[in-house]
Amino acid sequence: MTGKREHFGGRTAAILALAGSAIGLGNIWRFPYMVGQTGGAAFIIIYLLACLFLSVPIFLAEAIIGHRTHAGTFGALEQLAPGTKWKWLGLLTVFSPLIILSYYSVVGGWSIGYLFQSLTEGFHASDIGTVSSAYAKFISSPGRPLLFHTVFLLGCAVIVSAGVKSGIEKFNKITMPLLFALIVLIMTYSLSLPGAKEGVAYLVKPDFSKITPSAVAAAMGQSFFSLSLGVGTILTYASYIRREENILATGLGTVGFDLLFALIAGFAIMPAVFAAGIEPGAGPGLIFETLPYIFAKMGAAVPWVSAVVAVLFFFTIVFAAFTSAISMYEVGVAYLVEQRKLSRHKATVLIFVGTWILGALCSLSFGPLAQTKLFGLSIFSFCDMLTSNFLMTFGGLLFVLFVGWKMDKAVVRDEFTVGGTSRFNCAVFDAFWFLLRYVAPVAIVVIFFTNFFA
Ligand code: PFF
Repeated sequence: MTGKREHFGGRTAAILALAGSAIGLGNIWRFPYMVGQTGGAAFIIIYLLACLFLSVPIFLAEAIIGHRTHAGTFGALEQLAPGTKWKWLGLLTVFSPLIILSYYSVVGGWSIGYLFQSLTEGFHASDIGTVSSAYAKFISSPGRPLLFHTVFLLGCAVIVSAGVKSGIEKFNKITMPLLFALIVLIMTYSLSLPGAKEGVAYLVKPDFSKITPSAVAAAMGQSFFSLSLGVGTILTYASYIRREENILATGLGTVGFDLLFALIAGFAIMPAVFAAGIEPGAGPGLIFETLPYIFAKMGAAVPWVSAVVAVLFFFTIVFAAFTSAISMYEVGVAYLVEQRKLSRHKATVLIFVGTWILGALCSLSFGPLAQTKLFGLSIFSFCDMLTSNFLMTFGGLLFVLFVGWKMDKAVVRDEFTVGGTSRFNCAVFDAFWFLLRYVAPVAIVVIFFTNFFA
């Protein structure tokens, strides 16, 4: 199985690819808002703990399965538990990232649309209401969102079809450092605006009274989404990591970059929001209403600076979404290539067709298909709810149960400690084993029920 399989060049390449998957819309449109709303620095501490004690063990569980077998989700579980029902987990995690990809590509497409606008006409609205109605008009019109969804997905297809090393690795190696440089640049500018201090206070002022059980569950849920857990992307990327590589170091590196990017994004966005004197929000509204309004307001004062910052911002959002989307795309391609023996090109085309159709339905659910409801939700919201609230947590739970309770402890130890050669990893193995077997499953069940009843 390992013979002809491609590998990432080294630890840096692996971390950049994994961080590429992790760093995405979740870091930009949800994290800063959650921090501000849920206790500032107090939330950041809870989030850090959630990452360390929950997300890192889950991340490692997925990574161990992929790294041990050097196979995609389905093949990996077949190898480790041949002829058992675990193969259904393998199959589930082929489909769940593809569902996410379908609607993620729609939002990626909107970002391309706004990047295009920032490059051409720019943003000129005089009040937030005008910006909001332009946004509502844009997403409900069938033509342009579909066109941009197609462009976004085609971009992913081109990168993925070029292969793991010359496509995915190369793209992430160029894009990730660039994204960090851009977001730092934007943050510097944002912090220099008059009135930025209030935005900083919004992010850092600790308020421990806001740390309720549901805030803790929200922190765990956010770290889950942000680290792309439970849907086989981490497993698949880890399967391209060389045998001798240290999985714990790779995992901690990825989590560190993801957190750092989320924090910098917070300091890039919130000071500008407060400087413009508007209410902070989360979700698509932040990117497609609040930000364009800020650019329009800034533009009235210093037009060219505002135009440049707008281009850089939307460029960052588009490419952060791209690096996440290709990780989901690759899960499906790996399955078709390894299990169905398709060529990489054919597999790429097939995934393109499937996700394009589902994505098109999601896109049209803001316009012509608005009346089509699934369990009372639009097609877009249904796909989002199904994956973020159920499939990710369910997949994550099954992965930790598999590694913690089904796999041979000696094999897990061997993977975790790099065959017993890493002294640090040997020292912390028992703590990891405990978190994996007891803490992670209970915490995931808590997140699951909080999502269900929230
Ligand atoms: N981690 C990505 C984000 O924060 O935007 C989202 C994501 C990527 C979720 C890949 C799931 C996935 F498989």
